[in-house]
Amino acid sequence: MHPPALVVRGGEIVDATGARRADVRVVDGEVVEVAAGLDAAGARVLDAGGCVVVPGLVDLHTHLREPGDELAETIESGARAAALGGYTAVVAMPNTEPALDDATVVGSVLARGAHAPCDVVAAAAITKGRRGEELAPMGELHDLGVRVFTDDGFCVADAGVMRRAMEYSRALPGAVVAQHAEDAALARGGHMHEGEWSSRLGIPGRPEAAESVVIARDLELAKLTGARLHVLHLSSAEGVRLVREAKEVGVRVTAEVTPHHLVLTDAACASYDPAFKVHPPLRTSSDVEALRAGLADGTIDAIATDHAPHSPETKDRPFEEAPPGMLGLETALGLVLTELVEPGHLTLADALAALSWRPAAIAGLDDHGGPVGVGALAHLCVIDPSAAWEVDASALASRSRNTPFHGRKLTGRVRHTLLAGEPVVVDGEAQR
Ligand code: DOR
Repeated sequence: MHPPALVVRGGEIVDATGARRADVRVVDGEVVEVAAGLDAAGARVLDAGGCVVVPGLVDLHTHLREPGDELAETIESGARAAALGGYTAVVAMPNTEPALDDATVVGSVLARGAHAPCDVVAAAAITKGRRGEELAPMGELHDLGVRVFTDDGFCVADAGVMRRAMEYSRALPGAVVAQHAEDAALARGGHMHEGEWSSRLGIPGRPEAAESVVIARDLELAKLTGARLHVLHLSSAEGVRLVREAKEVGVRVTAEVTPHHLVLTDAACASYDPAFKVHPPLRTSSDVEALRAGLADGTIDAIATDHAPHSPETKDRPFEEAPPGMLGLETALGLVLTELVEPGHLTLADALAALSWRPAAIAGLDDHGGPVGVGALAHLCVIDPSAAWEVDASALASRSRNTPFHGRKLTGRVRHTLLAGEPVVVDGEAQR
């Protein structure tokens, strides 16, 4: 059964082709008409007055925790959080228990995701068990639709293994090898960025070099193999510089940055609040500046959440004992609009490119991120850019509460989200 015809009325469409004022008619999940002043007789109307209508957001980096840690999140709760955040597709990370390293586990995640309120695709592990030793059956996983391969949470330390993964990926159309760039030996024992604040607080640090040495090595391997490399959660000025230089000489590299690395610094750890603990760690204000500049000049392709739910039982511990990671899906858009677009660091179009169509292209999600035009599947997000709200951890749809942004005042919020024409969020409320 198809959802009833509807008209998204009164908004301004912003997509990769530009901006224009128009209504959007959706029938049977597809955009069938885009024009000003559409006749809505007989159709359901979604009011978009004062709003921007954009291709649904796409998250390259979501931890859904299923299978294995359903107390922290499930595919369903995470997908609901995603829809509320304006996402119509998320790439589920493979650091589950068991890891997403074979066709059976990946198949079960995809099957569960098929009924979720946003499209769920799986990233699969590069190596069996994410142990960094033996390659996972990448070809078989690719046959299931996997395009992103990563041991995220762990860095593939062995250069030979990384090289083989990259070489193999070249035979798999659309495949990309994504690295969690933190050298385990350099980062070992550290819980925050190594610098002035870690010294002051007496918390052992993880140096910036832990990231840059891995990025430098992997860029060499990408050059050697001709494979596509994606740098996950880029966090350092030096990392930005390396990626920028590699792009200039034609290395096939893309990079993402998280909202938290764009907005917070290591000074936040002075509270000893484990909500601010994350890998890679929050860094200095000059790193934040470099990340913002890298986003603005296109060195960094995408904003990805690294939504990493942890149940209160595991996260609410002393800083050094708490697991790293923070929620992201429901706050990413508001943070980007409030902290980057409103002050003029990034145009709205560039922000949306980084949140929607560029990540869609990286993950090979052809149905997502495309222009809002006739014949396209109606994966849409309607954003009210002037809606002021305050982040309330207890009101999030995620099963976890570990946001570092509780109490933060933001401007800009999702009003409606449409998944293949189905209004899964209406007036900020999840419909299922
Ligand atoms: O802080 C993090 N948490 N970084 C990662 O890469 C993994 C993630 C998690 O799974 O909790």
